[in-house]
Amino acid sequence: MKQAVRLDSPRDTQVWVATDGALPELVYWGPRLPDEEDLQALAHASETPVPNGGLDLHERLSWLPEAGRGYTDAPGLALRRDGTRLLTAFGLVEVRVEASAVTWHCVDPVATLTLDLLLQVDPESHVFSASATLGNAGTRPLQVDELASVCLPVPATAAERLHLSGRWSAEFQAVREPLGSATWSLEARTGRSSHHAYPGLVLLEAGTRATAGRAWSAQLAWSGNHSWRLLQTRWGPRLWQIGGLWLAGEIELQPGERFSTPVAHLLRTDSGLRELAMGWHDFVRRHVSPAVSTLATLQNRPVQFSTWEATYFDHDAGRLQALAEAAAELGVERFVMDDGWFRGRHHDRAGLGDWEPCPQRHPEGLAPLAVQVQRLGMRLGLWVEPEGVSPGSALLERNPHWCQRVDGRSPLLGRHQWVLDFGREDVQDWAVDWLDGLLRDAPIDFLKWDMNRDFAHEHGEHGRPVAAAHVRGVHAVMQRLRACHPALEIEACASGGGRADLGMMAQCARLWVSDCNDPLERIAMHGAALQFLPPERLGVHIGPALSHTTGRPTSMRARTLVAWFGHLGIEADPQAFTAEERDLLCTVVAAYRATRSRWYRLRSSRIDTGDPAIQALWAVTDDRTEGWLGLLATGRPQAGCPGRLPLPDLVAGRRYAVRPMPPWWPPRRGVKQGGALDDGAELRLFGRTLAESGLVLPSLWSGDACMLHVSETAMNTGSGADAGTVAHDGRATTFPS
Ligand code: DGJ
Repeated sequence: MKQAVRLDSPRDTQVWVATDGALPELVYWGPRLPDEEDLQALAHASETPVPNGGLDLHERLSWLPEAGRGYTDAPGLALRRDGTRLLTAFGLVEVRVEASAVTWHCVDPVATLTLDLLLQVDPESHVFSASATLGNAGTRPLQVDELASVCLPVPATAAERLHLSGRWSAEFQAVREPLGSATWSLEARTGRSSHHAYPGLVLLEAGTRATAGRAWSAQLAWSGNHSWRLLQTRWGPRLWQIGGLWLAGEIELQPGERFSTPVAHLLRTDSGLRELAMGWHDFVRRHVSPAVSTLATLQNRPVQFSTWEATYFDHDAGRLQALAEAAAELGVERFVMDDGWFRGRHHDRAGLGDWEPCPQRHPEGLAPLAVQVQRLGMRLGLWVEPEGVSPGSALLERNPHWCQRVDGRSPLLGRHQWVLDFGREDVQDWAVDWLDGLLRDAPIDFLKWDMNRDFAHEHGEHGRPVAAAHVRGVHAVMQRLRACHPALEIEACASGGGRADLGMMAQCARLWVSDCNDPLERIAMHGAALQFLPPERLGVHIGPALSHTTGRPTSMRARTLVAWFGHLGIEADPQAFTAEERDLLCTVVAAYRATRSRWYRLRSSRIDTGDPAIQALWAVTDDRTEGWLGLLATGRPQAGCPGRLPLPDLVAGRRYAVRPMPPWWPPRRGVKQGGALDDGAELRLFGRTLAESGLVLPSLWSGDACMLHVSETAMNTGSGADAGTVAHDGRATTFPS
């Protein structure tokens, strides 16, 4: 017997089929099916043969393939009781179907377990969201070794995968590879969602590019250990497994207890990677902490200043005042005092845990600085690292059990510090208490929440791992703080972008993408981050001329260009800028402040130029009246004459003016550029023409940055033009010939 259920967004459909009362399997995820489609027929059409040489049954690729039903590959569900592995075979008891959600309630009376599978769909962004809740209905404790959020069959036509790899100061490295013939797995095991494995993945058909082609994508809303598998089964099909990674002994359910996985969000497209990114941005804006993305807050994305690369630990009241004055002159609106403001923190070997303002640097607390900053027309933000604790801190002396550690061993140091066990309620209460006090003592409405080390020895006082409980504790503390301080914005930081994920983005208004402020590296990282996260949430800072992380000199034009496409900040000593640099920076900051109110729901992504040495970011306003094309040569372009760049996403039947945008023009002096770009004149072309014919790229030196501004012109004639059709590569429109 086959029980088929469909869940639809206006654009997409998923169909799940439970065969003979077992767990459901995904048999269809694609463009919306006709309402009258016969789901039984679809279920039968999807039935695979039983291959010779194995068991006399189907090893089904269900939501959680089960050993008790013959599945023998790497499990997404692995459980133990009294040291013995459980072979589960859940039976479906009830399917609850609502307009935008389905729940499958299942039990296994032999293993005495319950399992609830929840699938929801967001009708606006077409994102499907899946999670599982396991219950221990027995009388003995249950150990959960593996419990994925969801498993899906890899689409038959998927040929490649795209994931984001990296390391400190080089996060968000897009890696695109063929699926290959063996199982692929990606894991983060060190407590944070990690620098090396962003918890998101894209599967692509061969040839899918920015503006065309099919892709399927997932993001896990979880800020800790996670595991992704593209599992090649023995009998042919591939399984896509998505979930948190639970350490041995970490998840133990007492009789009657339940455990819910993080949510895996799923999104597909027929129209290329840019549309996929737009879908994710839309989802994050509407559903992942929506308050942050309202028009009002977006209009006020304040230009930030960070003291970190300007001073590191070397600051006092006088230096801070001078910096604040210089920052205000540049047009900064939020002054963020980074690490080094609290007792004992003159370097990174001490101070964490004892969170009082340094008595020498801030004898009267932080209020005087906050007031000074306010007088200069800015707001004060503050760096904190609540999860970190320095050996020798008074906090640990009072509470030796608060530190993650294995009994009988010295905890390992990371950046000279240990990690507090945020899974403990007393630690959570302590954190809320001092952070709340800090926010009440001085007008501070922004916290940069940092977390600077990997976990190791991540055990609690009870002797078991606490990595997952820690993550939930961090989220809970942030949630409680935001409830008491509704105007508070938190920035997620973990040695740069070591904890970037939708779990964090549910609490945080801003993500610190990387400590690498070198624009020649940052532009690719920013472009890769845009594949999953919207631009207004991604902090990008204008650093000093000589990058502190790459040692490379770059121009102010390049530095400002990349920051323009994110949440712009400055992180350098303004006094070290040349007069020319300062002028350019002031111009850009003023333009950014004047323009950003038009960026509500900005459609921003990287687009391919065909030359890996020329990176392009392309942002278009939601109403398609305006766009910015940023170009940066990160090396020497391959050809003397670079090619053409189609500009997608404009309205086919509207006419646009394309103008070089000062101060990012002209790109390379002394070279005869092509077309109208040479003398800075303006081009007027229809959206269709820009999408299909594109623009000839300028000739660029390595390190050169330039920007073109595209805006709808009043002269919007062209009889019969289809003003409502958006131009996409390869898509038919009714634009007149
Ligand atoms: C790591 C962060 O990524 C930096 O921006 C800075 O805040 C330092 N920590 C401070 O210790």
